[in-house]
Amino acid sequence: MTGHTDLRPTDPGPATTWWRHAVVYQIYVRSFADGNGDGIGDLAGMTSRLPYLRDLGVDALWINPWYPSPLLDGGYDVADYRDVDPRIGTLAQAEAFIAAAHEHGIRVLADLVPNHTSWDHDWFRAALAAAPGSPERNRYHFADGSGPDGSLPPNNWTSFFGGPAWTRLDDGQWYLHLFDTSQPDLNWELDEVRAEFEDVLRFWFDRGIDGFRVDVAHALRKAPGLPDVEPPFRNSDPGPGNHPYLDRDEVHEVIRGWRRVADAYDDRMLVAEASVHPERLPDYLRSDEYHQAFNFEFLEVGWRGWRQRDTIPRAVERATAVGSTPTWTLSNHDQVRHATRFALPSEVDAKRWLLGGDRRWLDEGLGVRRARAAALLQLALPGSVYLYQGEELALPEATELPVEVLQDPEWERSDHTTKGRDGCRVPVPWVATAPSFGFGDTDDPWLPQPADYGRYAVDVQAGDPTSTLELHRRALALRRAHLTGDEEVDFLDLGRAVVAFRRGSGVVCVINMGTRPVVLPPGRLLLASGDGPTDGLLSPDDAVWLLAD
Ligand code: BGC
Repeated sequence: MTGHTDLRPTDPGPATTWWRHAVVYQIYVRSFADGNGDGIGDLAGMTSRLPYLRDLGVDALWINPWYPSPLLDGGYDVADYRDVDPRIGTLAQAEAFIAAAHEHGIRVLADLVPNHTSWDHDWFRAALAAAPGSPERNRYHFADGSGPDGSLPPNNWTSFFGGPAWTRLDDGQWYLHLFDTSQPDLNWELDEVRAEFEDVLRFWFDRGIDGFRVDVAHALRKAPGLPDVEPPFRNSDPGPGNHPYLDRDEVHEVIRGWRRVADAYDDRMLVAEASVHPERLPDYLRSDEYHQAFNFEFLEVGWRGWRQRDTIPRAVERATAVGSTPTWTLSNHDQVRHATRFALPSEVDAKRWLLGGDRRWLDEGLGVRRARAAALLQLALPGSVYLYQGEELALPEATELPVEVLQDPEWERSDHTTKGRDGCRVPVPWVATAPSFGFGDTDDPWLPQPADYGRYAVDVQAGDPTSTLELHRRALALRRAHLTGDEEVDFLDLGRAVVAFRRGSGVVCVINMGTRPVVLPPGRLLLASGDGPTDGLLSPDDAVWLLAD
């Protein structure tokens, strides 16, 4: 690789705000760092790790729900939206954490869970104590059953976790829960519900929160009369839009209300978890709605170069056409970690494989190699990257969790047909030789760590130039300097299974998802996920950043 082109420096320009090209690091609180040795991650632990996050070079954090909760769905069952769970810390500690993060130059996004509350929320308790037809019950979706004696659910909706989306009470009425029984859905037709959540936003904005990731942002509004799901629709699949309970046009009014609240503050942002048809996603990104939305197509397509060549440019186009920026995510707390997904043949459904799949299909080395290459891909694309804790270590899924320790409601509600999401939520290894690999002063974290997790520990990787952690540190520093100035991107055709593009600064990214070496364009090598090119050829499962001639 010869030749030299000067990099064009980043020029954010007046209209650019921080979130447009941010690297956002997702913290699954219970599993990140345990400050008091009770086996559960907490605010004290998170605060102590802020220097690590600053040195990694992230711009912001997204904190999974930290509110008081019976933890029947990992905190997505919120009992009080204006407080912190005592196992995680106190409200004062949360405020101090936000301030400390800001001092480290890091912004903080909280998680808003508006579709449902916990059954321990005051509103739901009041609804249970009140009579059918009461205003207290009207805050949720209570209905009489169907069938001659009302003993069948009111309609045929199913829970995302399996089984019917309805639970019956002793008084004969049923209530709706698109997720676990412990997560009753709110009635978003009510002004009272809207006012309450707008107030919750203000509560946290006033405490310094820089924005929110909004949970199941596409499910809030339900069709009047709660009709059955009928073809062409299917349960749990939004289809082309206006499904009986997903991606309904009315949801946009709710979002506009939140945006007005956010806009009354400086520089706050809202990012949607809206698993809708990709053609419908731009509607969520209109200038008076969300700033950004997760792009799950990128995650789902995964290691299939010929499809990424198509889906990546379309995601860029869709987001930029409405003035937003695209987002890139490979893992989160709901997905099998991608170091493991990429270690399996691409036709294997990793989630199913977890439950009794053939272990011989797993090639851990290949998974790590591809995860490193994919890191360079997502970090070179225009827009924001949402990294999941441990991803910077190429941490694999904990694939051998005994079923007795599983906590995810998916395990029970699916009648044990899926193991659920606990395997990606196992506590992070920080120190190879310490109890719980340095997660906390405990031998007994809330989920057991695999015996070999020490291999991935931060202290083993820090300072080793060949480690995945150091690869991320270098990539984030280069990205910050040269890849966040604009959204300019020209896609290059280097072969059917190769994703390649040139950014406005002159940086070229090439990732080889095929099976044969690929000829690289001329340029000086900036960063390589593997050993780097040989004789101008990039090996399969590798990626590079070049400075174009
Ligand atoms: C969250 C899940 C959660 C569900 C219900 C999701 O999309 O990411 O972890 O179980 O919403 O709140």
